[in-house]
This record gives sequence, C-alpha cells and structure tokens, in this order.
Amino acid sequence: MTSGTSLPRPRVAVSRAGLPGAGVERLATRYQVTAWEGTAPPVPAELARLAQGCSALLVLGTDRVDAPLLDAAGPDLRVVALASMGYDGVDLDAAAARGVVVTHTPGVLAETTADIAMALILMARRRLGASVDALRRGEWGAFRMDAFLGLDVQGATLGLIGYGQIARALARRGAGFGMRVQHHHPRRRDDDELSRWVPFDELLTTSDIVSVHTPLTHETAGLIGAAELARMKPTATLVNTGRGGVVDEDALLAALRGGRLHSAGLDVMADEPRSDPADPLFAEPRLVVLPHVGSATEATRAAMVDLAAHNIEAVLEGGPAPNPLPGAPGRRPAPHRVQKIPSFRGE
Ligand code: DGY
Repeated sequence: MTSGTSLPRPRVAVSRAGLPGAGVERLATRYQVTAWEGTAPPVPAELARLAQGCSALLVLGTDRVDAPLLDAAGPDLRVVALASMGYDGVDLDAAAARGVVVTHTPGVLAETTADIAMALILMARRRLGASVDALRRGEWGAFRMDAFLGLDVQGATLGLIGYGQIARALARRGAGFGMRVQHHHPRRRDDDELSRWVPFDELLTTSDIVSVHTPLTHETAGLIGAAELARMKPTATLVNTGRGGVVDEDALLAALRGGRLHSAGLDVMADEPRSDPADPLFAEPRLVVLPHVGSATEATRAAMVDLAAHNIEAVLEGGPAPNPLPGAPGRRPAPHRVQKIPSFRGE
C-alpha cells in the first residue's frame, strides 16, 4: 500500500544563472534546481547560502569549493560537479573526507582549447597582437621589408609540458603546421606517432615554442620561473593555456623585457580576472594576453555544462560518476608561489 505522498525531490544548487546548453534545464525536470541569480559571481558566503541543504552542486572552475562550503551544504551533499576541466579551486581531500564525489569535464574541451593554444603561438610568434595594435594607432605606413617581422612556426620544435588531451590535440595541430613535437610528462614516458618524450631540461633548452598543459597542483605551482626561462632559447615563445600559477609572471615579464625570450602568449593568469587597463601584463608588446577563453565556444561551453549535469544525474540516481576526480592527498589547491618540487621534471 502506498501513502500517496511522494518524497521531496533532491535539491541541486547551480552557481550561475543562464548557463549555456540544456543541461540545467534537464536537471530541473528531475530535481529542485536553484540557480544563483546575481549578475556577479556569488562570493563564498553567498555560495554557501545557495548550497544549504542541496544534494548536488554545479559550479564553475573559478568557484572555490572548500571545507566551509561543503559543511554549509550539509549532510545531503553527494556530488560537486565542475563545469570545467581544471579543479585547482577544489579541496579534494575535504570532499573525500565528507564522502562527496567531485567531477570535472574531460573529453569535451580539448580541441577547442588547443585551437586557442595554436592561436596564441601564431599571435605571439608572428607578432600579430602588436601588428593589430599598431594598425589601431594609425601606424601602418609604407610597406617595409623589416616591419612586423616575426618568427616562423614551420620547422620549429614545439615542446609540450604535460601530455594530456589538450596537449595531444595541440600536437596534432603542431604537426599540421610542420613543427617537430616533443613533450615532457613526469610519470608517463610515452612516445607516440606525434611526439617524443624528452627530459624536462631538454624540453626547455631545445624547444622553439614551449606550451604549458599541466593542472595547477603543489607539484606544478611556479614550475616555469626565472631559472626555467633562462634555460629557454632567447628566440623561444612560451604559451600557457593551463593554469596561471604554473608560470611566474614577474619572471616572464623580466625575461621578455630583457630580450631573453622572444615572445609569450597567456590565456590564463595567476590572478583572474584582471581588469586594470594599466596591468603590466597588457602593456608588454611581446606578450599576447587573452581573458581565459580556451574553451569559449558556444558548443563547447554547452557540452561542459551538459557533462556536469550528467555527472549529477548519475550520482543522484545511485550510479558511479562518469568523470570523478581522485581524492588523492597532494591534490589540494596550490598557492601561486610555492617551492618547486623536482619530481615534476621526472629526473
Ligand atoms: C577549464 O575547463 O578548466 C577551463 O579553464 C575553464 O574553466
């Protein structure tokens, strides 16, 4: 005999209004969905209030998920689904200690982000940002053989730090542009048809373009600092589409200003967002900066939200999450400046 009353639907909190795609709408057909309504992102106290009593939390990579937030959510919380690949804002140990599954979005943004890495390589190396700036200042005079000269990518050696999905997608692009590709990964010494594994120092000293593809962890914070930049060729280009804290920005500016590095392109910075037009990063002519747009296409952002929603559905329906993050020690959010740990170099 049934009582005729139905159980309340689990609550799902979403940290932004108007997320792209149909994922949140689909969640709303099964669960009680409450989305943050402000135009600015919620501050931690606001996110904590939103999360109270929820069984699932859908957040962005820039939201901080720590013990106070998890405790504010309460004992019903079962899953935190990131609509991002990066997870440096999440205290995985705190989540694991509370039995909360944390998921992210591999597989759906690699190609789109690799396009931006390739765009940064071309912009920095061919000095396209500086050329557009000159045009806007009305400085396009007579054709000169020595104006706006950059360096070729064809025939250059592309060095990838990290060799996950985005790095592999960039390796394919690099090969298509006639580059030789090599990579360093601290634990997987795997050559493939596209790229050859090399030791970390060899990658720095022999690459014409170094592209960073590591998550931000205690192991990788500050990985590219003054000493590493000094090992690179003065004609080299550094590109970062991973996480800002992996590159020491002061050291990068010093290397560019001192003529010890040809150029650089950053889609990610240690502190984001950066809205001061006088920011020294924006003023350096050999540095191209983008506002963290690696995955920013309509289809990819919709796919990221959709995958986050799928992870929530899977856990709330009692199944395993398709894209869980390991709650391994040492995966806590990294401070932006910590001592380098030689193990990354795999030597
Ligand atoms: C990611 O997915 O990590 C991107 O940086 C967007 O958050």
